[in-house]
Amino acid sequence: PPYIDKGWRGTPINELNRMPQCAPPLSHLKAVPNHTVAVRTDLLREGEVPVPYPTKFKDAWDDVSVKMPCSEKNLFPMETEVYYRWELIQTALQGGFKSSLDVRYLEHCEVQHLFEVILPAMVDLALSAPRLCTMPIPLLKSRMNHSLTLSQEQIACLLANAFFCTFPRRNSRKSEYCNYPEINFYRLFEGSSPRKIEKLKTLLCYFRRVTQTRPKGLVTFTRQMLINPPNWERSQTQLTHLHITCEGTIEDDGYGMLQVDFANMYVGGGVTGHGLVQEEIRFLINPELIVSRLFTEALEYNECLIITGTEQYSKYSGYAESYKWKDSYTDETPRDDWQRRCTEIVAIDALKYRNFLDQFLPEKMTRELNKAYCGFFRNNAHSKHLSAVATGNWGCGAFGGDTRLKALIQLMAAAEAGRDVAYFTFGDAQLMRDVHEMHTFLTERQVTIGQLYTLLNQYSSVVCKNCLTTRPDVSLYSFIYERVSSATPTNVPDSAKDSG
Ligand code: AR6
Repeated sequence: PPYIDKGWRGTPINELNRMPQCAPPLSHLKAVPNHTVAVRTDLLREGEVPVPYPTKFKDAWDDVSVKMPCSEKNLFPMETEVYYRWELIQTALQGGFKSSLDVRYLEHCEVQHLFEVILPAMVDLALSAPRLCTMPIPLLKSRMNHSLTLSQEQIACLLANAFFCTFPRRNSRKSEYCNYPEINFYRLFEGSSPRKIEKLKTLLCYFRRVTQTRPKGLVTFTRQMLINPPNWERSQTQLTHLHITCEGTIEDDGYGMLQVDFANMYVGGGVTGHGLVQEEIRFLINPELIVSRLFTEALEYNECLIITGTEQYSKYSGYAESYKWKDSYTDETPRDDWQRRCTEIVAIDALKYRNFLDQFLPEKMTRELNKAYCGFFRNNAHSKHLSAVATGNWGCGAFGGDTRLKALIQLMAAAEAGRDVAYFTFGDAQLMRDVHEMHTFLTERQVTIGQLYTLLNQYSSVVCKNCLTTRPDVSLYSFIYERVSSATPTNVPDSAKDSG
């Protein structure tokens, strides 16, 4: 029969774990010291809009909480008088949108709809902050292991405020928030590049949707720090299953899996500015991710952010320069018992490399292993209950990493965390074949993570350290094939081995 080249290799994707099928029952949602829940957990019902908690707005203007636009401490001193900014904001936003803003990218009737329906509804949403976001939102700072659960409605309200740039102390990087991502959207309105226009279309689609029908679920944001990194050198773990494909994307085909966000240390990267690659696109089509920028301090080398429950509102085409908002998207991902969509995304930031060889330095490889492991590891979880990791060329686009090294690093980290991997090469068929071949080879020879780690370090000292050019003259994979083959008597047939 003719050989039909399929676009994938390894384990069929449907044999990998997905949520919600693989998950054990969730414990009852409740607020505990390391989990802030901003809604009434006792009133949480499927199909109903969650009720904010507490009932009355609780003001906090301190260094552990988000400073809210509606805070009484949010003051605007003028020469003779001091104004409450929230009053100024209300006056400004309720003044209506009559000015001839330049919105040439929309059809006339769309402009009318924007000014008469969407923007006024967004104003109402933003101004309902004191009613919806009543609990102080804790800042997820460095070295904190903390979760925050907000309702999608609260997130919509916060994002409407971000759109209107009302968050105090967040319009310059020189404030107490200098180590936080930007949250106010002011940079989106600068210039008129096609990128900005497509971004705005995507976000306005989200605002249109959430103002038409209030979303009814919750989203949890967890900052996780890796306290005890694995002892890589001594690990006896073997690789787990791999499905690798040059077709499809993490978000479309990795549903129900732990989906990797190729993040910046400032989560969301350039989403409110110029950036428009994997992370920014994900934050645009699942805009609830953007609110993490309000409270997530820059990620340290051993930290990640896990976001569970965001919804996809838009379809897109293209990438970077060619990115286009395509259409509204109806997300039918099932919800868990906490009313969160079963979409788990983990933000892990790779290192950025200017010199290609740097990434093979042992301390850099260990850093990336620990970063990926931090994202994949779940405390007290059994392997059979863990969804597969859906990932791809993490750190290998804007950050200049080597796909073959990064694929191996992620396979090692996933194995150590007890998870299988679905790897999307984003069109690269050669990469698919190479990584699959390597994975098969290592699995057949039962090479442990510890041995692999040692091989990586040997490659670093033998090939990279004395390299005089910008690229190594022996590739990592040929080095591994060489070393492993010469260490095990592979040319000896099994029958000969037995006769000893
Ligand atoms: N599914 C699978 N693979 C993808 C997808 C997708 N949806 N989109 C892109 N790829 P990049 P980085 C592949 O450059 O190098 C942002 O600004 C594609 O092969 O986004 O880690 C962040 O905020 C692409 O070349 O990730 C950071 O600042 C590769 O993944 C910075 O970029 C890498 O995508 C991170 O850069």
